Amino acid sequence: MIEIKPDIYYVGVKNPDMRIFDVFFKTESGTTYNSYLIVGKEKIALIDTVKEPFRDEFIKNIEEIVPLEKINYIITLHHEPDHSGALKYILEKSNARVVISKTAGLFLKQILHRDANPLLVGDNDKISLGNITLEFIQAPFLHWPDTMFAYIPERNILFTCDFLGQHFSDEEIYNDESRDFTYAFEHYYKIIMRPFKDYVLQAIKKIENKNIDMIAPSHGMILRKDPWKYVDLYRTWSTPKPRDYRRALVFYASPYGGTGKLANSIAKGLADSGVYVEIFDLAGTVIDDSLLDLIENSDALIVGSSTLNGDAIKPVWDLLSSLTTINMRNKIGFAFGTFAWSGEAPKFIENRLKDLKLKVPETSFRAGIIPTEDDLQRAAEMGKKLAGYIIGPSSSVPA
Ligand code: FEO
Repeated sequence: MIEIKPDIYYVGVKNPDMRIFDVFFKTESGTTYNSYLIVGKEKIALIDTVKEPFRDEFIKNIEEIVPLEKINYIITLHHEPDHSGALKYILEKSNARVVISKTAGLFLKQILHRDANPLLVGDNDKISLGNITLEFIQAPFLHWPDTMFAYIPERNILFTCDFLGQHFSDEEIYNDESRDFTYAFEHYYKIIMRPFKDYVLQAIKKIENKNIDMIAPSHGMILRKDPWKYVDLYRTWSTPKPRDYRRALVFYASPYGGTGKLANSIAKGLADSGVYVEIFDLAGTVIDDSLLDLIENSDALIVGSSTLNGDAIKPVWDLLSSLTTINMRNKIGFAFGTFAWSGEAPKFIENRLKDLKLKVPETSFRAGIIPTEDDLQRAAEMGKKLAGYIIGPSSSVPA
């Protein structure tokens, strides 16, 4: 238990040994489940709880300050179970009213399996604890629809849930006393917040005029030194980078070279029409952060695979399953491939591109295992056609 501001206590728990979060998110430095207890002169509020297996340590932390039955409000900023897992146990031992955003009712019911009669709050709604006021700021899709922030004007502190968090655990709790967590901060943004850049910018607009000298997220270090530096990083990463040309990326998997030939022909058609094209043979392509940045900053994703045993080849699925942390909506998509007898791969790729919310204006393209000159000509023509969907009137190709 640490008093981080007068009457505001850190009561979270640390999980330094965790190495994978949510099954896929590598966390070399573990994580923390931060929670904060606010002891007003008239009322007491708890901000967020912790993951269920840590509830006993969590309850002990709270009860070092007050008995659970003294808590009047439990503010649930977001209902993912790493923050709401211990909620039902706290509720069983207190008469607290749960306070949630107006979009969170369904999530709360899913977690508690009952109607808890929560207090619903919206933008600028306030709860008084006597000498301390909690103000609420809706921050939808950061990273669930229900996310909100809480601000205490009397203490200049903002509670941001996952926003500005890090999967990082240290002996210390403050950013100016911990080991370096730059990587964890950036990686967290890329995995959790990157698909929601517009929402990040909207949330920053809502907080940028408030007096804030401490930001208390629900994971990782509390940002008390230069808190706005971290907000500015989010702002920079979320602000679109203007480009005066259109970029298409062509990926292919081609055991016998035919799908690769189609890829090159499509790319030639695109390039001849003024689209800047980069081609990737998936046999030697590493799917890393740099590649995901490039995909995010492109206008079209064109993916080809030969058909193997009625399916697309594994490196293609590796690529297509790596795109959930990028907003692919409205990019142009297209699928192609060669086949010997059944040829399902292009259709499977096309469906996946549609599921990722790309625009797929043309039906996928197939050719025999060794494409003919006519096939290659048709592929080039398809590239020109796709360029028509991709290119804008003022686009130019970089030198
Ligand atoms: Fe840390 Fe979205 O939960």
